[in-house]
Formats: sequence, C-alpha cells, structure tokens
Amino acid sequence: MTHFRLPLLLSTVLCSLVLSAQDIAGLDAATGKAIFEKLWVQAPASTGASDGLGPFYNSRSCAACHPDGGRGLLPQGRVLQLDDPRYGKQLQTSAVTGLKAEAQLQWITESNAQGLDRPLPVLVDRDTGPLIMPSSVRMAPPLHGVGLLSTVPVSALEILADPDDSDADGISGRIAWLESGTGQAVAGRYGWKASEPSLQAQIARALSLDLGLGNPLYPDHWGDCTALQHDCLAAPAGLGPDEQFEAGHLVMDMLESYLQSLLPPTPEAMQERGYGLFRQSGCAACHIEELASAMGQIKAWSDLLLHDMGPGLADSLPVPHALPAEWRTAPLWGLDSGPYLHDGRARTLDEAIRWHAGEAASATEAYLGLNEAEREDLFAFLLGL
Ligand code: HEC
Ligand code: HEC
Repeated sequence: MTHFRLPLLLSTVLCSLVLSAQDIAGLDAATGKAIFEKLWVQAPASTGASDGLGPFYNSRSCAACHPDGGRGLLPQGRVLQLDDPRYGKQLQTSAVTGLKAEAQLQWITESNAQGLDRPLPVLVDRDTGPLIMPSSVRMAPPLHGVGLLSTVPVSALEILADPDDSDADGISGRIAWLESGTGQAVAGRYGWKASEPSLQAQIARALSLDLGLGNPLYPDHWGDCTALQHDCLAAPAGLGPDEQFEAGHLVMDMLESYLQSLLPPTPEAMQERGYGLFRQSGCAACHIEELASAMGQIKAWSDLLLHDMGPGLADSLPVPHALPAEWRTAPLWGLDSGPYLHDGRARTLDEAIRWHAGEAASATEAYLGLNEAEREDLFAFLLGL
C-alpha cells in the first residue's frame, strides 16, 4: 500500500498549493463557524485553546445567543446593558465555579395605553451593592448579511442622512458618529443603536462582555469585572505560556470570516401588493430598498441611520452618539419569526410596526389605516424579503 501514499501525499500538497483565495476564505469561515459554536470553558483546563470563559459571562458560546447565526431566542438571547461602577457595562448572569453571578434576570411585562407589552428587567439574587439603573435591554439580532453592511461606504450614508430634516418630510436620519482612538469620528453601523463601527469591534465586544474573553481590543482577561469585584479580578486567566490573549487575532479573524460568509437569504418573489403598501405607508423612507456598497446595490431594507422612534421605544442608558429614542433602522432582509425590535418586545410584525412612533408616526398611522387583508399582504411581503 505504501506506494499509494506518496502520490496521495503529493496530490494533497499540490492541491493545497492551488487552493484559491475563495477556498481559503471558505476554510476560514468553516473554522470561524466552529469557534462561533464552541463552548468555552473555565480556566485552567486541559483544552487550553478553549479556556478563559468568564469569570462572569452571559453564555458559553456565540451561537447560544445567535443560533445558526440567526436572531436570539428568549430568554437567553436577551441581555441588560448598563454603565455601572459595580456591575460594569453588562449584567452577567453566569459565573465560573466558585464565584456567584452578578444577578439573575427575570422579566415583567408592562403594557402601554395601546395594549402593547414591553419587558422590564427585574434583578433577583443580586450581588450586594446598589445598582444604578440607567440600562438598555437588547436582543441578539440575526447576523445574516452583516458582512455586506461593512461594505457600505460612509459617503453613501452621508447622502442619505438628513439630520435637520431639510426636505421637511418628517424623517431626519443621522449617522451614528463614534469617537475613535485616533480622534477622528467613525460611522457606527452595528448593534441596534449603531454603537460599533466594524465587525472586529463588535466581535471583540462580544468576546469580552458576553463570554468574558480577553482579546486584542479588550485585553482584560476578566472581561467585564469592575474594580469593586475583587473575586472576579483574582480568578485565573485562560492564557497559555505564549498567549497574550484568551481570544487572539486569529480567533477574531476566523469569527469575522464566518460572519462575512453569512449571506442574507435569497428573497422570494416580491409580493407586489404588499410592496405597494410598504411604499405607500412611508416605510421605505427609512427601510430603503437599496443601499450602495462596494459589492454593488444591496437590499438590506435599511439606511443604517439613527432615527427618533418616539418615547415608547426609548431606553435610559446614555451613550454619546445617540439619544435615548434613537435607533438604527433595522435591516429587514431575511426577516424571521421574531421576537422583533431592540429588546425583543414585539411578538408579531403587527406589534413591531405599532411600536413605531416619532419620525415613523405617519407610517404607523398609514399602517393602522390598512384593512385586515392589506396587512396580511404587507406581512407576506416583509417575510419574503
Ligand atoms: C448573551 C448573548 C450574546 C452572545 C453570547 C453573543 N451575542 Fe452578539 N449580540 C447580542 C446582542 C444583545 C446584540 C445587540 C447589541 C447591541 O445592540 O448593542 C448582538 C449583536 C451582535 C452583532 C451585530 C449585528 C448587527 O446587525 O448589528 C454581531 C456581528 C454579533 N453580535 C456577533 C457575535 C459574536 C461573533 C459572538 C461571539 C463572540 C456573539 N455575538 C455573542 C447578544 C449576544
Ligand atoms: C423613521 C424610520 C422608520 C420608518 C418610517 C419605519 N421604520 Fe421600521 N424600524 C425603524 C427602526 C429604527 C427600527 C428598530 C427599532 C427598535 O428596535 O427599537 C425598525 C424596526 C422595524 C421592524 C423590526 C425588525 C427586527 O428585526 O426586529 C420591522 C418589522 C419594521 N421596522 C417594519 C416597518 C414597516 C412595515 C414600516 C412601515 C409601516 C416601518 N417599519 C417604518 C425605522 C423605521
């Protein structure tokens, strides 16, 4: 048999020499998918490449919140963002063995005058110390198409933005200008409030806040522990002798390759009546049909801009680049069965639309004027995108 081995070996080597850039991207994406799905473990562990979880964390894998790269499920896909001297930037509801998690999250429902429900967080089994409550509830969004969003040039956003509503159509739309390390402002495009400028930044934030993994952009191996959380700071790191980060550049690059490979689903045949109603109701003023990108026109059904959506959708966590009621127009490609909106409050498309107010008030009014059959046409159109 040995004489077969050499040709086999040779052909494997040759094959690997002629791997195209596309093949390599495919391999990176496959590795990235495995990293996205793997369950990280507490340090120290025999599986050195997978340790470093926590000490405080929300989930053990990216996929726990974004199953198959899709939208999160309740309750695990929902987190509480904060800016608190004790709890840090996010409430972590899990901790490694030997430590007590920051708190457990439960949800109560508050109904507004229109009978629409939204979730309010209740912290139980909380660590000592007061919680300063400005906060923002966030649902894990679907990730199909996020790679394409990175190819939209800022110049395209600048053309769409109308911060002072100079055309007086009631719709403004602002670029989420973020401060960068270099002092130059960069456009935010990821997250429900467009708080992150790039996939790398979003991945790094997730590694640190959701999983508790130190990485090149958030080097602390203790993730979101604060100076007041001594036990957390003292817990062991998941660093091998030559490792600088629990999740290094390579891990981040592979995760990015995976995210780049998650294309939006191919749209179904356009539901024409629903499309007409969508445009007629003014939905397309924010959920614009086409966005210019380096890959040509992409159909994300979003302008990626911030819009004032009214007090009902506002959160209470101050951020420098957006007001409490401002949110990034959610892309509608590959729309699934929800839960919808930034905190997953809407169980149905009907609820999601009825929560729209502020700049979207006239669109909501137009929607409320549709009859039952027309609404069904609109939903069919939305679900086919
Ligand atoms: C505990 C749940 C949770 C885990 C675990 C998690 N995410 Fe997320 N993810 C979220 C939430 C919530 C948001 C929305 C954040 C915001 O609005 O600021 C989000 C947003 C994102 C976005 C931006 C999508 C968009 O359309 O703007 C990307 C990309 C992403 N996550 C990737 C990852 C990766 C990669 C990992 C693993 C390293 C990960 N996430 C782990 C909950 C999670
Ligand atoms: C003024 C801009 C604007 C207009 C007009 C507008 N939307 Fe939106 N839409 C948004 C923003 C911003 C969000 C995200 C809000 C949030 O999560 O709190 C959103 C979210 C959504 C969602 C939920 C997506 C998800 O993944 O959770 C749906 C569905 C939707 N819009 C449909 C519509 C329809 C249908 C219309 C017309 C009747 C419409 N929108 C009009 C800005 C707008």
